[in-house]
Amino acid sequence: MLKGKNIVVGVTGGVAAYKACDIVSRFKKLGAEVNVIMTKAATEFVQPQAFQALSQNPVTVDMFETPRYWDIEHISLAQKADVLLVAPATANIIGKVANGIADDMLSTTIMASTAKVVFAPAMNTKMYENVIVQDNIKKLKNLGYHFIQPASGRLACGDIGVGKLCEPEKIVEAVIEIALPVQDLAGKNLLVTAGPTVETIDPVRFISNRSSGKMGYAIAEAAQARGAIVTLVSGPTNIKPPAGVDFMPTTSAINMYDTVMEHFNKQDIIIKAAAVGDYRPENPADMKIKKQEGNLTINLVRNPDILLELGKRKTNQILVGFAAETNNLLEYATGKLNKKNADLIVANDVTENGAGFGSDTNIVYLLDRQGEQRKIEMASKLEIANKILDKVIELSK
Ligand code: PMT
Repeated sequence: MLKGKNIVVGVTGGVAAYKACDIVSRFKKLGAEVNVIMTKAATEFVQPQAFQALSQNPVTVDMFETPRYWDIEHISLAQKADVLLVAPATANIIGKVANGIADDMLSTTIMASTAKVVFAPAMNTKMYENVIVQDNIKKLKNLGYHFIQPASGRLACGDIGVGKLCEPEKIVEAVIEIALPVQDLAGKNLLVTAGPTVETIDPVRFISNRSSGKMGYAIAEAAQARGAIVTLVSGPTNIKPPAGVDFMPTTSAINMYDTVMEHFNKQDIIIKAAAVGDYRPENPADMKIKKQEGNLTINLVRNPDILLELGKRKTNQILVGFAAETNNLLEYATGKLNKKNADLIVANDVTENGAGFGSDTNIVYLLDRQGEQRKIEMASKLEIANKILDKVIELSK
C-alpha cells in the first residue's frame, strides 16, 4: 500500500518514544521506505539501534555526524520525504518549528522540507494545555502543519488528562489519510465555498458571522490531496489556502454568488460550506454613519441564495450543501435537502461542543436523497472532510 513512499519519522524525547518503534514497523509492513531522525533527548528513552533494525536504515541523531551513506549526503531526507511524521512530538519541537528555530537534525529537516508534516503530540496535560503550546499549535495549523489529537488517560507522570500519544495504529491511519491518500478524485473539478460573507454598513462597519473557514478549507485540502482540481471560493479568513488550489477571495454574498456562478459550469462537484449571510443592508452608506440621538434602524434586504440557485441550474453535478442549525437539526436539514435540490446535506448543530463555527473538530450528519442519515461522530475537520468526500464518491457511482 505504501510501496514507493518515503516516510521520515522524527522521534523526540518523551516516555512514548518506544511507541514510535511500533509506528515504524507498521509503515515498513505497508511497504514504505522509512528513515528515522531522533533528537538527542529521544536516545535517552530508546536506543537508535532499535529504529535502525526496524527501519532497515541508519538512524540520524546528530546533524554534524559524518553521513554514512552517499544517498543521505546528496539527497537530504528533507527532499526525499513524502511525509514527515513527528511522534511523539514534545512541546519543545513544536515550539521550535513554530518559531523558526532549526538547531538539530530534526528541526532542520522539518524546516527544509516541502513535504506534509504531521505532529503527534505527547506530553503532560498541563503542558499540553499551556497557552504557549496551544498558540504554537494554532500557528502551525494555520500554516498547514497537521496535528493528530493526543488521547486522554493516565499519563506516565501519574496525571490523568489529555496528552497521551495517540495509538500507533491510529497514527498510521491518520498519516495515510492526511498525506498519502488514494487519488479517487483525480481529474475531477471541485468547487468549495468557505468562510463568512461580509456585508458593508458603512466604510467602517459590517455584518458578518462566526465562520472561520476551517471546514471549507479542510474540504479543499482533502479534495486536492485526493487528486481533484480544486477551486476555493472564500470569504475573509485567517487561514492560508492550501497550496495548488485555485483561490478566489470574496467578500459579500453577491460577490460570492457571482464568483460561484462564473465557475459553476465546469465543475463536477460543488460543496457549499460557506456561511452566507441571508441579509445585507439595503443602502450601505458612503461615509461613516455619525452617532445621533436615539436608535438607528438599518433596513436589511434578502441576499441571493447561492445553493438554491445552483440546485435549479445543476445538470450532472453533485451538489452538497451544509445546514448550520441550533435546533431541530435533522428536520431543518431535510427541508434544505429538498428545497435546494441538493444531493447531500451536511448538517451540524452549531451549539454542540466540538462542532460548528471556529472549532478544529465537527460533528455532522450526512443526509442523502435516498433517505440515509449517517452520523459522523466528533472528528477533526479534515477527517470530516474526507468522510464527506467518501460519500460524494459513493453518490457519483
Ligand atoms: O467555517 P468554520 O468556522 O469551520 O465553521 C463551519 C460552518 C459551521 C460554517 C459549516 O460547518 C457550515 O455549517 N456551513 C454552512 C453555514 C450556513 O450558512 O448554513 P445555512 O443553514 O444558513 O445555509 C444552508 C446552505 O445554504 C449552506 O450550504 C449555505 O452555504 C447555503 N446558503 C445559505 C444562504 C445563502 N444566501 N446562500 C447559500 O448558498
